[in-house]
Amino acid sequence: MRKHCAVRGLMNRTYVKTLYADTKSFGDAEVTVRGWARTVRDGKNFGFIELNDGSCQKNCQVVLEREKLADYENIVHCGVGAALTVRGRILLTPEMRQPFELHAEEVIVDGTSLPSYPLQKKRHSPEFLREIAHLRPRTNLFGAVFRIRSQAAFAIHKFFNDRGFVYVHTPIITGSDCEGAGAMFRVTTLEPGETDLSKDFFGKRAALTVSGQLDVETYAMAFSNVYTFGPTFRAENSNTARHAAEFWMIEPEMAFCDLAGDMDVAEAMVKFVAEYVHETCEYEVDFLTERVCPELKDRFEALKGGEFVRLPYTEAIDILKKAIAEGKKFEYPVEWGCDLQSEHERYLTETVFRKPVFLTDYPKEIKAFYMRLNDDNKTVAAADLLVPGIGELIGGSQREERLDVLEQRMKECGLKAEDYEFYTDLRRYGGCVHSGYGLGFERLIMYLTGVSNIRDVIPFPRTVGNLLY
Ligand code: 4AD
Ligand code: MG
Repeated sequence: MRKHCAVRGLMNRTYVKTLYADTKSFGDAEVTVRGWARTVRDGKNFGFIELNDGSCQKNCQVVLEREKLADYENIVHCGVGAALTVRGRILLTPEMRQPFELHAEEVIVDGTSLPSYPLQKKRHSPEFLREIAHLRPRTNLFGAVFRIRSQAAFAIHKFFNDRGFVYVHTPIITGSDCEGAGAMFRVTTLEPGETDLSKDFFGKRAALTVSGQLDVETYAMAFSNVYTFGPTFRAENSNTARHAAEFWMIEPEMAFCDLAGDMDVAEAMVKFVAEYVHETCEYEVDFLTERVCPELKDRFEALKGGEFVRLPYTEAIDILKKAIAEGKKFEYPVEWGCDLQSEHERYLTETVFRKPVFLTDYPKEIKAFYMRLNDDNKTVAAADLLVPGIGELIGGSQREERLDVLEQRMKECGLKAEDYEFYTDLRRYGGCVHSGYGLGFERLIMYLTGVSNIRDVIPFPRTVGNLLY
């Protein structure tokens, strides 16, 4: 387990994670632990506080002896949620539920907590906790989710960095709308009612990015393998458990790489991040498996072995139609050419294959203009990764490198050539086969935590009609 490394400014205490990682070496040691009281119990001769400092899923059990502590009464009335500094000795208790206790010699109440503290011992629903987004990181559930989110973000950078990818910061304010991936949030300094764009800050329409792909492609044509990892905004009016207005996307782009290579990178990345989280967040995964998603542990195990399925769209349609003929009911109809709904995606990955599935070669009409046209002239070299419990996790493709075909597709899609001059230039000056994908970071965190609502894997979620803080 990772320990907090020695930085002088952080050394004024021992972290709970370190106590669990190295319990034996702390037998009878004097330590100072600082954190927030999860529970406070007052007995006749002894009091007990479960202290959590956020470094670890587990708490440190503090034992208070009435006789020993002059200000015992004050301490046990500090209130659930209070910030405390506890100096004392570690007693190893291998026969008990907790492997050690901290016997307090001195307790400083850094900050008391009022009796109105909304997080009492009982379990609270995620819906209730969303209304107190500033306090929910103090719960077991959100502690687990946000430690995993942090480790997963690091693992993604590590995966790409280890393989020589260059991290590119694509712009957040953009003048192009990528592929029309979603409705955009406008960025303007005009007052309501003012319409003269020449008076606007940029002198033209501007918006928050819906994808950094087109920008990152320009860097792939110089650095070979690149990725962007940043905030992404879509003014989607769909109030689902899988869509947020502000989310983070990872978009790698690889020059001289075809669709099969694209899927190889995506599969290796998902497996790498899962393994990293499984290794570094053992207690968190245990907790989430017990309380949130009984299949979670098996999900991690399954990712270690076995290849993801790679299935052409056309074959997926056949499978779905066959299921319907055999009595399976879906809300939405299935026909070749239709965009698959979440219920179809989940049926394929949860019922038919029971593992992640790349769906490839979609009809061109339902995919973006930049995807490479296949020889059948009907489908494009796209690959979406569908995973159990979530549905679409990744959307990717091989890009159209042939200028004439790209221009034709842009025309068909009603795009103005002059808006994409920079993009078509990449085909004029040394274009090559290249591919990439976009992974929704929050969807990945849902997959790795078993949490079923995207709002509960984002520190301060922004969804339609909802903007707290
Ligand atoms: O499939 P999408 O729209 O693909 C693109 O934007 C491409 N330009 C990516 C690329 O090839 N570089 O989005 C990619 C992923 C989706 O698979 C989904 O996981 C996530 O981004 N996503 C969202 N996540 C949360 N909230 C939303 N509103 C999302 N929209 C897309
Ligand atoms: Mg998509």
